[in-house]
Amino acid sequence: MARIAVIPGDGIGKEVAPEGVKLLEQIAALRGLDLQFNHFDYGADRFLADGTTLPPEAIADFRDNYQAILFGAVGDPRVPDSRHAREILLALRFQLDLYVNLRPVKLLADRFSPLRNKGTKEIRGVFFRENTEGVYVDVGGTYKQGTPDEIAVTEDVNSRKGVERICRAALDYARRHGVKTVWMSDKSNAMRHAGGLWQRTWKELAKEYGDLELKHMYVDVLAMQMVLKPEMFQVVVTNNLFGDILTDIGAGLAGGLGFAASANLHPGRIGLFEPVHGSAPDIAGTGKANPIATFLTCALLLEHLGHDAEARIVEQAVELAVAENVLTPDVGGDRDTQAVAAFVRAQVERLARA
Ligand SMILES: NC(=O)c1ccc[n+]([C@@H]2O[C@H](COP(=O)([O-])OP(=O)(O)OC[C@H]3O[C@@H](n4cnc5c(N)ncnc54)[C@H](O)[C@@H]3O)[C@@H](O)[C@H]2O)c1
Repeated sequence: MARIAVIPGDGIGKEVAPEGVKLLEQIAALRGLDLQFNHFDYGADRFLADGTTLPPEAIADFRDNYQAILFGAVGDPRVPDSRHAREILLALRFQLDLYVNLRPVKLLADRFSPLRNKGTKEIRGVFFRENTEGVYVDVGGTYKQGTPDEIAVTEDVNSRKGVERICRAALDYARRHGVKTVWMSDKSNAMRHAGGLWQRTWKELAKEYGDLELKHMYVDVLAMQMVLKPEMFQVVVTNNLFGDILTDIGAGLAGGLGFAASANLHPGRIGLFEPVHGSAPDIAGTGKANPIATFLTCALLLEHLGHDAEARIVEQAVELAVAENVLTPDVGGDRDTQAVAAFVRAQVERLARA
């Protein structure tokens, strides 16, 4: 039995996460998987009603009693400083120590490629972004704020343990998936201290992973090569900030936010699965939210639970929706969220029985 916590959050999160749950419930019924869902109302409505962001006991409850969290998105114009979003999502990532942010960059059909002459054969990588350190740990401060002499410092925190474990996650993934070349990307020419640690760690790991080719590219060069020769990159590992930026380039290469899935992992522990997009207040409530990113996120969740065959079924069902252009307007279709979801479920039904 696997227990899954569902946190739809805000905006279109509340529209796409329920479709994800329906899909998982369907595949569980068809394939005899024992998945149990518990729903949590953390998000802007709850925060504005009673001040709750993430209750203190939630972290231990998730850690001890659940195998996965299916997350929608957080962010609401009524909470302009996004306090609730930080306290919910960043707390989950940091306090559950989900140090791997895994983001596939996989183009589903050539027609979605923004690059001339680069299609599904070329755009098919997986990025490993460090998820618990770097410049996002909120270490730093300001001095003489509000004066012309103001100084602001944001520290880039890198630990040996943190660097090594994210590199290992990428290398182990490459081994499991038969990928021979893994790229580590940093800016060690300009950021000598943090970059030096990444370089030393990478060189040491190269001795241990002799069956793989461990390569390095500065992040500015890698950003350029991603759009010139995306086929170079099947597995890439990098820090939190660079990973954030590179994977947005990746989402663009793979057809946009409507298709971008992600997993936050700590191997052997609970994982948090979320589409890359936010709560999209501009289209919330209009039926235009693309559910595909959530469905591909559900495939990652199924893989995490060891249900690889079922994950492939979800991916194939999504590919059929793409092939038939049963899609939402953001990716050139004319259907609404529910119509796309119903089509994908119909394909899952057929594939699971085959
Ligand atoms: N992980 C998260 O929860 C997360 C991530 C990013 C942004 N946010 C929050 O979401 C809110 C909105 O942020 P934003 O507008 O910068 O980013 P966004 O991802 O919500 O939207 C960016 C653009 O892409 C479109 N879009 C996004 N997902 C889509 C989908 N599934 N289907 C169709 N169109 C889609 C939106 O309509 C919008 O035009 C903010 O409060 C932000 O802080 C949350």
